Amino acid sequence: MNIIHLKFYVLVVFFGVQSYGFTEFYNLSDDDFFYGTFPTDFEWGFATASYQVEGGWNEDGKGESIWDEFTHRRPNPVVDNSTGDIACDSYHKYKEDVRLLKDAGANYYRFSISWSRILPDGTPSNINQAGLDYYNNLLDELKANGMSAMVTLYHWDLPQPLEVQGGWLNETMADYFEDFARVAYKNFGDRVDKWLTFNEPWVFCVLGYGNTVLAPGVPEPLHSHYDCIHNVLKAHANAYHLYKNEFQQRQNGKCGITLDSNFYQPADVNSRADVEAAERAQQFSHAWMGSPLFHGKYPDVMRELVDAKSKADGFLTSRLPTFDSYWAGRINGSLDFLGLNHYSTELVQASVETRPDWWGDRNVTTFRDPSWEGSVSGKDVVPWGFRKILNWIKNTYGNPPLYVTENGYADDGTVGLNDQGRIRFYTKYTNEMLKAVNIDGCNVKSYTAWSLMDNFEWTNGYTHRFGLHWVNFTDPQRQRLPKASVATLRKIIQDNGFPMTN
Ligand SMILES: *[C@@H]1O[C@H](CO)[C@@H](O)[C@H](O)[C@H]1NC(C)=O
Ligand SMILES: *[C@@H]1O[C@H](CO)[C@@H](O)[C@H](O)[C@H]1NC(C)=O
Ligand SMILES: *[C@@H]1O[C@H](CO)[C@@H](O)[C@H](O)[C@H]1NC(C)=O
Ligand SMILES: *[C@@H]1O[C@H](CO)[C@@H](O)[C@H](O)[C@H]1NC(C)=O
Ligand SMILES: *[C@@H]1O[C@H](CO)[C@@H](O)[C@H](O)[C@H]1NC(C)=O
Ligand SMILES: *[C@@H]1O[C@H](CO)[C@@H](O)[C@H](O)[C@H]1NC(C)=O
Repeated sequence: MNIIHLKFYVLVVFFGVQSYGFTEFYNLSDDDFFYGTFPTDFEWGFATASYQVEGGWNEDGKGESIWDEFTHRRPNPVVDNSTGDIACDSYHKYKEDVRLLKDAGANYYRFSISWSRILPDGTPSNINQAGLDYYNNLLDELKANGMSAMVTLYHWDLPQPLEVQGGWLNETMADYFEDFARVAYKNFGDRVDKWLTFNEPWVFCVLGYGNTVLAPGVPEPLHSHYDCIHNVLKAHANAYHLYKNEFQQRQNGKCGITLDSNFYQPADVNSRADVEAAERAQQFSHAWMGSPLFHGKYPDVMRELVDAKSKADGFLTSRLPTFDSYWAGRINGSLDFLGLNHYSTELVQASVETRPDWWGDRNVTTFRDPSWEGSVSGKDVVPWGFRKILNWIKNTYGNPPLYVTENGYADDGTVGLNDQGRIRFYTKYTNEMLKAVNIDGCNVKSYTAWSLMDNFEWTNGYTHRFGLHWVNFTDPQRQRLPKASVATLRKIIQDNGFPMTN
């Protein structure tokens, strides 16, 4: 980073991110490598999720989840007709997973709890001891190997008996979720450092309700994702306050939530309409949940647009519900830290849209820059967007403690263990994160790579491999092998960044 860049950075700090005239900010050190190290208490980990790795879908008393139901449909909605019935078989191979984590230099492991493994019908009226044993064993194994645990309560696998009652469209889920959280805190909380209530509400609400891309795949009504998010935020607040009031003092952990967001870059940074559209897109994605969590209400721009469009479409009430003062107060501030899953960036232009749901309500068009490096998952490799979303979060919510809970790159497996694309990805993205922390002052506390190993990538089955470890899915033993990128990340972790002396 040279002094000219630094000057423009200072100007942007003074005039704020809306200073769209400063095109240099957007060019800032795209290609410049930045040397330095993270604060000494910075932590590094690797992530997985229960349905994507565990297998053992009906073993030892586990109940059926919406992902079991979804992948057992015929025709199977998954591109390669696969399921997570066995996946990486982590239900039996967790000790090997812990060994991989240790060899890669991890400080912690982020994994999720399968709700229906510990509560087969979704409620605590029937607690499955074998399910508790599994997570107790995993937590003990991590501890014995000197690693801590970041645990996601909900990574998309709702018990099917609760989906039958309407799933996340039914607001009583907020109570069922609290009951589930209590069982998890009580049994595991003495060994859990960080709790994440939910993983990526945007993804499972927008693609699972009013849409058939993900389970439960309930197509109607189109706008039902707004109700899903509403109920998920209530459930989150219930679980957060339960932890605060009954467990935190004794267990000494922290509780937050993971939101996902692309960065939205104005297609033309000199166009006021595009700059406003990009901010609108950001408000409709990250701030849809972030604003209630930090400010006690949905973003003003969503309120205005969705209310006006609902009215124009003949709805008697807005598609976007409103929190009463009880819930607004309960949700406002209900997090010790924010989790972020970030993968990619999109260009944005203003447009007039009419589709009566979230997609249309935004009044934006998003697209990619053809010069960007693509990837099999459709997520473009845009490292500087990572720095910008971290800055956007800092500026929008007052620089909260932030844990990067996912960041990663998929290939189709044809490169085998020689995953140069993933090596470039991790090097550049973590270097942009270093700029965000050391130059911009973003309050980032940890970084989690997605994923520890190749796994069941939802409706893309086993065709998209996000792992730092290769998993042989035709091998009954599900052999794991380190890809070349493990050495790269291990070195970054050991160095805690990119010291100049290297
Ligand atoms: C980047 O900088 C160049 C000049 O250095 C300028 O022509 C270009 O428009 C800038 N691009 C963006 C996206 O700001
Ligand atoms: C998946 O199964 C369907 C039949 O249900 C079949 O038509 C299709 O070819 C299969 N696809 C793959 C990739 O195996
Ligand atoms: C919502 O859940 C409650 C409690 O389980 C149940 O009594 C009710 O019937 C459900 N509502 C719908 C619409 O399914
Ligand atoms: C949310 O909390 C913040 C900080 O305590 C406060 O300033 C704000 O007024 C609250 N918002 C609502 C809608 O209560
Ligand atoms: C958004 O789109 C609607 C049409 O659905 C249009 O009437 C309205 O003016 C647009 N608003 C903005 C802020 O772009
Ligand atoms: C995967 O496992 C199968 C069955 O054990 C074996 O035949 C195959 O060679 C393995 N593939 C690789 C790439 O190791």
